[in-house]
Amino acid sequence: MKLTEEEQAMLAGKYGQGTQTAMKIQVAIGEAFDAPYMVPITRAHVALSNQEADLWFVEKLVSQGAHCRIRPTVNPSFNWKQMKKITSIDAKDEAIVKRTDAAYKKIGAIMTYDCTPYLQLNVPRVNEVLAYSESSATPFVNSVYGARSNRESAQSALCAAITGVTPYYGFLKEENRQGEILVNVQAEMKTDFDYQLLGYVTPKKIGYKIPVFNNLVNPSNAALMNLGAQLNTGGNVPMYHIVGVTPEAETITAAFQGHEVKETVTITQADLDEMRSDLTAPYGKIEFALFGCPHLTLDQIKIVADLVENQHLKVPLFIMSSAPTQQLCQDMGYLQTIEAAGGEIISNTCMDQPCWKFLYGKKGVTDSPKCAYYTKRRNMEFVITELENAVKAALKGEIYDENHEKSVSMSQNI
Ligand code: F3S
Repeated sequence: MKLTEEEQAMLAGKYGQGTQTAMKIQVAIGEAFDAPYMVPITRAHVALSNQEADLWFVEKLVSQGAHCRIRPTVNPSFNWKQMKKITSIDAKDEAIVKRTDAAYKKIGAIMTYDCTPYLQLNVPRVNEVLAYSESSATPFVNSVYGARSNRESAQSALCAAITGVTPYYGFLKEENRQGEILVNVQAEMKTDFDYQLLGYVTPKKIGYKIPVFNNLVNPSNAALMNLGAQLNTGGNVPMYHIVGVTPEAETITAAFQGHEVKETVTITQADLDEMRSDLTAPYGKIEFALFGCPHLTLDQIKIVADLVENQHLKVPLFIMSSAPTQQLCQDMGYLQTIEAAGGEIISNTCMDQPCWKFLYGKKGVTDSPKCAYYTKRRNMEFVITELENAVKAALKGEIYDENHEKSVSMSQNI
């Protein structure tokens, strides 16, 4: 790779061993992808996982004196203070959280503990070059903002934050951002939840190509967040276009950068319905409700608050969100409404953390296929449905399909 004088100095150890290690890793990645040179980044987001390997890596860099030139935001870990009021936390798990927090602070990260940095606190502009890890973040910044990031790992994003540069390859290059397949959506797409299903089903149909969605009208931020999270979890798709919505897809021609559309696929309501029944656990009694994968927005939490106002939840309900959103919920009174009904808003926490052991082996309800996907290995099972339905299920302690609900209400009317 052709390196600038400053990059060569980093590689030679002029800025200390930590920066040197980070630059060595960056160069190795660049060579693996045939990158000709490095480009400066303006933002980074590190998908801190709070697991032992993650901790080993950041502590090693800290011990070598590394410090971030670009201060990254970070993914959630778990809020041990808040979770301790709900359940017992293993001393070993609490120690890892504290050490991870200390190491990332020392290296210069901003401890946002949020998996939706693109909605608050780390919001890029069009064409900015970034190093973002986190499966919902990379598609959002690439697709919705027209910023440029590869699908970074937590480690490569941290190295980019330390060196301030990233190898020039992949989605940083204009020509690699063009749409590869036209996806005609012939489904109703009435709720944000439909975008979760669309995100999950699309890679199953098209593989790992950049989809250009046609016929999607005015999706909300939450819908776009859901779409990207599932595209990049159900598959490996860190970028998409929506004709007339995302900045690089004003028209179909623009989305394909003037090239002929060679492949088209149609996704129907039947595809989404089938995906839904494949993903979800069987209906019936549920023991808890868990939302916020990715972290719920203020508007989504308002939906929950409106539904549970003056009611009492039959099963525990947990909402994961960012600390600023939790604070806003308190200011708006949503937090108090949810707590009065028996629910909780938990800040800075991810569902893929050891603080949820008390839910292992139980069946819950969620609106997030990503949540259900990750927690399978932790022996948790989920009925997956729209946020509103899931909250209603938590109020009743059970959930059945529409036909069952109708037959119950008819028998009650007889
Ligand atoms: Fe966020 Fe953890 Fe889900 S980082 S998107 S809550 S897997």
